[in-house]
Amino acid sequence: MSAEPRWRDLREWLALLETHGELRTINATVDPIEELSAITFMATRRLGAPALLFKTFRDNPLGARVLTNMLGSSKKRYALAVGLDPALSTREMIAATRLLTRRRIPPVHVPAAAAPVNEIVLRGNEIDLTKLPVPKFWPADGGPFIGTGAITLTAAPQTGRINVGVYRQQLYGPRRVGLNFVPGRHGLQDCEVAWAQDKPAEVVVAYGIDPVLMMVGSQRYAADESELDVAGGLMNAQVEITNAETVHLPIPARAEMVIEGLLYPGDLETEGPLGEFHGFYSGAPSRKPVIEVKTLHMRDSPIMTAALMATYPSGEIGAYQAIMRAARIQDNLADMKVPGIRGVYCHPAAAAGNCVVVVSLKQMYPGHASQALALAAHCPAATYYTKWIIAVDDDIDPTDFDEVLWAMSTRCNPAGDLDILRNTMSFRADPSLAPADKPYGSKVLVNACTPHQHLKQAPARMALRESVYRSVSERWADFDLGGMPPTLWDFFLENK
Ligand SMILES: Cc1cc2nc3c(=O)[nH]c(=O)nc-3n(C[C@H](O)[C@H](O)[C@H](O)COP(=O)(O)O)c2cc1C
Repeated sequence: MSAEPRWRDLREWLALLETHGELRTINATVDPIEELSAITFMATRRLGAPALLFKTFRDNPLGARVLTNMLGSSKKRYALAVGLDPALSTREMIAATRLLTRRRIPPVHVPAAAAPVNEIVLRGNEIDLTKLPVPKFWPADGGPFIGTGAITLTAAPQTGRINVGVYRQQLYGPRRVGLNFVPGRHGLQDCEVAWAQDKPAEVVVAYGIDPVLMMVGSQRYAADESELDVAGGLMNAQVEITNAETVHLPIPARAEMVIEGLLYPGDLETEGPLGEFHGFYSGAPSRKPVIEVKTLHMRDSPIMTAALMATYPSGEIGAYQAIMRAARIQDNLADMKVPGIRGVYCHPAAAAGNCVVVVSLKQMYPGHASQALALAAHCPAATYYTKWIIAVDDDIDPTDFDEVLWAMSTRCNPAGDLDILRNTMSFRADPSLAPADKPYGSKVLVNACTPHQHLKQAPARMALRESVYRSVSERWADFDLGGMPPTLWDFFLENK
């Protein structure tokens, strides 16, 4: 299925990207305030645009660099990150991802002296994060955001389980960083245990991370699972961690830059807005917790990872999210033993893969499509924000939206095939909701399968006979049409 990833950290992965022509280095001097994001946005209006490494900023005493579009809309870079063949189709990548994300490999401890992130260690007043090229992305952002492509580590006090989450972080001063938790996040739950005892909550934040840590930090795994184990499984290699100095948490040893910090109970700052993944600002500024930075660890000339939030194909949350979220939803349906599911897809253009879920299934009994729709709508991997859940027959490839639209156009009779679920989980920045209704949203279940009631009488769809397809494919070169024959998802049933 895959060659295992042959890299251990962001620098090694960037070297791999370079050999694949997937990295562009920008040497010209760039302003981190709006210009870096403008270049990123403009360079990524086309699908599969490369990762961008910005090397030169004015007033950059630490020689920091900034990487944007680490993954973006590129399926190829997703494949290179997790060790899959970049030539696989999207649906093959989803199937492979389901296998890879089931594996768990715990991290390994390395001595502090052997950790590349400890090349430079600054403490207390020596730290000034305002000296870094911290981007302000969009004109009406509330300020510069140091944490977008960053992971935050917290521990569950009872079990010691280490959570890894991606939560945006506004920069307020040399050692003051905001932390924006959506209610229910595991990182917030960990901090709340400390605050309930009137104690500061401990965090570690890594600002230059490899793509696998970024991907697993932004997916939702069970509360008792550590994303460090998931990352190890995905890499088939242990994530290297080392001890922090001031908090009881591990530090990713091969990260580019890491802070250790404390969030004191009641210490809040006005946060936001930030131009977000769905193409709108995140809403009115509000009071959010603040990290007091105690220690800074970094590699020489650290590479900070920054995630531009923008509409597809420009946003950082693109191909990887579409593939990983689809894989998790299909896993959830499998865990509930829903039979006949052939595939699931979450198109990245639907607000970073969040709003549309397509489920392709072979209808096996009355109500099967309706069951799959309802369970997909509220399974843990899909319940947040998803608005459109579409069931299609198994002759439809869910990753092919031409096919999905065809099924919606021909097999769905809106008067009887739509159901609405109300009071579902949306989020505060959903612009379709009246302010008083937020964050409660709704979902529509679209049954675009052949009506089960007349499955037997349904008109036959045209499809090629498989034997003819195979012989034409074998002779493809004879016809001088160039390229490879297309892969087809469905064929005429010979004995129908
Ligand atoms: C670039 C990026 C920025 C994100 N920003 C936030 C954020 O500010 N707050 C938040 O709660 N979730 C944010 N998320 C989503 C969380 O990372 C995601 O829901 C993750 O599953 C949370 O982890 P947890 O469930 O372990 O808490 C962001 C995701 C990405 C990829």
